[in-house]
Amino acid sequence: MTTWPVHGRISGPIVMIGFGSIGRGTLPLIERHFEFDRSRFVVIDPEDRDRALLDERGIRFIHQGVTRDNYRDLLTPLLQEGGGQGFCVNLSVDVSSLAVMELCREIGSLYVDTVMEPWLGFYFDKAAGPEQRSNYALRETLLAAKRRNPGGTTAVNCCGANPGMVSWLVKQALVDLAAELKLDGPDPASREDWARLMQRVGVKGIHIAERDTQRARNPKPRQVFVNTWSVEGFVSEGLQPAELGWGTFEPWMPANARQHSEGCQAAIYLLQAGADTRVRSWTPTAQAQFGFLVTHNESISIADFFTVRDDGGQVLYRPTCHYAYHPCDDAVLSLHEMFGQAGERQPDWHILDETEIVDGIDELGVLLYGHGRNAFWYGSQLSVEETRRIAPYQNATGLQVTSAVLAGMVWALENPEAGIVEADEMDYRRCLEVQRPYLGPVIGRYTDWTPLHGRPGLFPDDIDPAEPWAFRNVLVRS
Ligand SMILES: NC(=O)c1ccc[n+]([C@@H]2O[C@H](COP(=O)([O-])OP(=O)(O)OC[C@H]3O[C@@H](n4cnc5c(N)ncnc54)[C@H](O)[C@@H]3O)[C@@H](O)[C@H]2O)c1
Repeated sequence: MTTWPVHGRISGPIVMIGFGSIGRGTLPLIERHFEFDRSRFVVIDPEDRDRALLDERGIRFIHQGVTRDNYRDLLTPLLQEGGGQGFCVNLSVDVSSLAVMELCREIGSLYVDTVMEPWLGFYFDKAAGPEQRSNYALRETLLAAKRRNPGGTTAVNCCGANPGMVSWLVKQALVDLAAELKLDGPDPASREDWARLMQRVGVKGIHIAERDTQRARNPKPRQVFVNTWSVEGFVSEGLQPAELGWGTFEPWMPANARQHSEGCQAAIYLLQAGADTRVRSWTPTAQAQFGFLVTHNESISIADFFTVRDDGGQVLYRPTCHYAYHPCDDAVLSLHEMFGQAGERQPDWHILDETEIVDGIDELGVLLYGHGRNAFWYGSQLSVEETRRIAPYQNATGLQVTSAVLAGMVWALENPEAGIVEADEMDYRRCLEVQRPYLGPVIGRYTDWTPLHGRPGLFPDDIDPAEPWAFRNVLVRS
């Protein structure tokens, strides 16, 4: 029998908001890796599909939604009951990360979430333009809160697989690549040093390059959106504008690209839905593949983190950074169906659980490109079979996320006065150490593939032969 390490003690109540695919998978990891008072563990969700898992453990369940109107009155007593330091684990949709994290910091409770989630209504507000519906705008509200109220009780934002773990993988990949290119030294000590190392290594950009090969026993029925994690979450982000951290090397910008007038300026957005935007990318299993440029917080935070400025604040270097996501085949079909009906969501949706999946892996990593060794992919190749062996109630996608939540919780307990933090600002070695037992094979692969490989083909192609990694070559344009 495996003996799992206990990483720390949670001295106050644990309040988990949302008990969907990620909440359900996080529960056994909390049980395994922390000492805590079970009688003060509370789960809140307006759906009660899986409450049997809580009932059989004697964990309290509150069958209710957290809303803008009730969150203060509902959460404050729960997080303070019985003394000690409370821990709020927000794994819901439609509950504002910012509102809940600010409340937690006011009352001295630790906080972690996996996305920068807004209140219900944000994603589908037709009155708001694409810029207002961007992740850039959401992240700017976090940065403003951080500036308004620096330091204090730790709140870890966007700490799932991506956003989250991939920020730690970027650092590990960069350190490995620097060693390969004989540019290594001790780990950089500050954000500025990390950015300068990225520049010195010559990385032009980074894809969060993912291939999910998990296959269901039964084929996708018509008019059902099928995915390996939150359909609600995926559809919401998929209908936000495509967004990417914008690198200083890029010689060309699409005509429908827009820059922001305020904020960190690290990213641009396109006037088209991310899940309807294809890019060329590479993972070890897929080799060359199309991925969707779905907006993600890490595309912006990583580009921002690795920006080098001169003393006057002028940007000297920034890598391009974006998601290139090939979800499971059923999700690709689901997107095809949804965009075929002008983005109208299917009436039903379904998240594949570990019992319905026949086989497959979630291959999730980072592709650092444009340097002296062309491109380097580094990441996790977790299979559903291994997932079933090592952790209950989840598929491979889920475990990559829940183990990052675990790492975020451990880091917060060990650094309880770090203020509001993004994954880029955390100790990547410690976080990956906690997470590693749950990631399956973690590998690095070099490739000589570029987005110009095999092009032009049978038809004229608008390529930039001088800059193989230019976004002009990466973006699929008809
Ligand atoms: N960073 C990452 O790598 C990553 C990966 C997967 C999911 N996520 C995010 O994690 C969150 C959960 O994902 P999931 O796959 O478990 O989704 P899910 O759809 O399976 O579960 C979401 C749960 O939230 C509940 N919920 C809805 N409204 C609520 C409210 N007002 N108050 C409390 N609970 C509410 C739903 O009933 C549901 O049970 C989503 O925001 C998703 O985007 C992040």
